[in-house]
Amino acid sequence: MQNIKEYLTTNKERFINELIEFLKIPSVSADPAFSEDVITASKAVKKSLLDAGCDTVEIYETDGHPIVYGEKIINADLPTILVYGHYDVQPADPIDLWDSPPFEPIIKKTELHPEGAVFARGACDDKGQMYMHVKALEFMVQTNQLPCNVKFMIEGEEEVGSNNLAVFVANNKEKLANDIILISDTGMIANDVPSITTGLRGLSYVEVEVTGPNRDLHSGLYGGAVANPINILTKMIASLHDENNRITIPVFYDKVEELSQKERAEMAKAPFDLEGYQKALHIKTVYGEKGYTTNERNSIRPTLDVNGIWGGYTGEGAKTVIAGKAYAKISMRLVPNQDWHEITELFTAHFEHIAPEGVTVKVTPHHGGQGYVTPIDTIGYKAASKAYETAFGKKPIPQRSGGSIPIVALFEKELKSKTILMGFGLDSDAIHSPNEHFGVWNYLKGIETIPYFYEYFTAMST
Ligand code: BES
Ligand code: MN
Ligand code: MN
Repeated sequence: MQNIKEYLTTNKERFINELIEFLKIPSVSADPAFSEDVITASKAVKKSLLDAGCDTVEIYETDGHPIVYGEKIINADLPTILVYGHYDVQPADPIDLWDSPPFEPIIKKTELHPEGAVFARGACDDKGQMYMHVKALEFMVQTNQLPCNVKFMIEGEEEVGSNNLAVFVANNKEKLANDIILISDTGMIANDVPSITTGLRGLSYVEVEVTGPNRDLHSGLYGGAVANPINILTKMIASLHDENNRITIPVFYDKVEELSQKERAEMAKAPFDLEGYQKALHIKTVYGEKGYTTNERNSIRPTLDVNGIWGGYTGEGAKTVIAGKAYAKISMRLVPNQDWHEITELFTAHFEHIAPEGVTVKVTPHHGGQGYVTPIDTIGYKAASKAYETAFGKKPIPQRSGGSIPIVALFEKELKSKTILMGFGLDSDAIHSPNEHFGVWNYLKGIETIPYFYEYFTAMST
């Protein structure tokens, strides 16, 4: 029987070219201008799953973008793996900061990817990582080595909050029944430091609007005499952190899970190059909540960040004006036990409370989700760990991530199953940013690691 390494040697050129074709489809879920492309991408996913060997694949319409669902059931007595991924991508803006067009993929070498990386929007998040699973399935089916049942659920709305997927999951619990959920939509520490993501942060995303006078005013005639919404908004935002960079919203930290010294010491063992981190970002020093390391700040601690702020005159030259309104978009990353609905309410109440007289504020929640932590004493984690050990020749380090995939907590609630997060991207792969890329080595390593997981998980479960 052929092993995966041989199969990769024979097919890697084709695997790379197929990914490149898939990346050419601009499946931006947030922008209605791309809705036809999103549909095209869903059809490409369907075709790829059928070609790889799924018995049935359906495209399910939703109130938003479609969900692609496929399966190959070989024996009801064997375990079932549910693979989740997303074929939608973030908007490519700002386009002029890309070195090559975002939907014309090219392969270029980088310091961290000496064997080349594919540059395109979605290369790493998540088309490239999702497609590794399609190619791993192809290998297992074509060489008669699929050891268990597999279901694929690939959605087109992850980057906009997965609202319709939540409905689909709640309505299709039986169809989606599984023993473990497998996702590659996160990262690892480095190519020679494999890691498995054991936690995701929750999220509450809100938009705020501060209204002062009923119209824009001359800043000479009215300046100093009325509340300036932009002045007020920035002052309010500044007050949301104290001098130790802790969030000042009352009750915000009450449910935050505090890790023991032992757990923190365990975390601190993961290699981290602070100087390299600062150098790569061209910053003199890191910044954040007092008393915590960088790795803790971006994984086990909650945060509040302004993602965008606007109002008034931002065009060429100068215009003397006091704007009637000012706006900001704010995200809060949450940790286990913090409930995103509750945090959204706490934020809203606090923001209304700190608004001075003379302005009115409106808080509009956008989307959110709960955080997730996966235990490491399960069959799923052990099988994943062994799979990495086989493929990388090294035991992977469990590591919590700072990012969010809100649907994961919902999977656990609705489908009662745990998720294994086998991510193969690097933090420096520029997901959501200009020049997003995914290492060719990482792509092929992922395809190699996945079948080992199927094998070990099935062996350990039966
Ligand atoms: N794949 C990312 C999340 C991610 C990336 C987790 C790297 C861990 C490591 C996902 O596509 C994403 O971008 N999620 C959003 C939230 C979503 C509701 C828009 C995020 O984390 O900002
Ligand atoms: Mn993603
Ligand atoms: Mn994303």
